Amino acid sequence: MRSNLPVTRTEYFIQDGAAIISRTDRKGLIASCNDEFVEASGFTREELLGQAHNIVRHPDMPPEAYRDMWASLERGRPWSGIVKNRRKNGDFYWVRATATPMADGSGYMSVRIKASREEIASAEALYARMRSDTDIRLDEGRLAPTGLLAAFRRFMPQTGLITRIYLITGSLAALCLIVGLVGLNAAGSSRDALRTLHENPASASQGTGKIEADRAEARYQTSLQLLSGMAAGLTLAAWQPSC
Ligand SMILES: Cc1cc2nc3c(=O)[nH]c(=O)nc-3n(C[C@H](O)[C@H](O)[C@H](O)COP(=O)(O)O)c2cc1C
Repeated sequence: MRSNLPVTRTEYFIQDGAAIISRTDRKGLIASCNDEFVEASGFTREELLGQAHNIVRHPDMPPEAYRDMWASLERGRPWSGIVKNRRKNGDFYWVRATATPMADGSGYMSVRIKASREEIASAEALYARMRSDTDIRLDEGRLAPTGLLAAFRRFMPQTGLITRIYLITGSLAALCLIVGLVGLNAAGSSRDALRTLHENPASASQGTGKIEADRAEARYQTSLQLLSGMAAGLTLAAWQPSC
């Protein structure tokens, strides 16, 4: 990680409507850039060409932002986020950057426009959190979701739509099978309980016997519902999309 020092507290304001553009080779070395890039960075064009973009890296930017940027680009995906860059003299400027792989595979391109004050304020707060909590992850420039859905997405391989549909229907089938087996087991014990009560009607005529009979009947009905859920799930899993 390159650390460009010193930094000042002086902000350089990007003009409304300006587009700061650079193009790189496959290694990320600057192949060309427009006058706005030269102006904002404070370097000369000669100093920029052939250099990696970390020549304008600001130390306040969390490494996770660039890990995510490169991971997105290498997957062939664009990356968009709020970036704080350092000028040659240590001043800084904020941009909304969008980087994308070139269609012909020759490298990458990035277009930066002026970030709004709201975007800057929320990026500053997020990056401050990320500097102290290195577990925070980004995904294509956005805060990566956490929780069950995120875990599912992380474990879900980067495969095509059809494979994902097969994986999802397969998981549903497995879930239905488990639910169905639990239902079968419960149906078995409910049936046994009902049989015992039918074979011993004397106990069923007493108060507790009646309650037991009602409970067994309710369990039996629930089990039947679980079994029909399993049947519906297996039917769904058996259906395969024709696309
Ligand atoms: C098209 C493109 C544009 C980039 N633009 C910037 C940028 O404006 N500022 C920046 O710090 N890094 C930018 N990077 C990322 C840098 O290449 C580098 O990964 C980053 O500065 C972190 O450098 P480090 O690994 O030395 O810390 C860009 C990368 C690509 C491919």
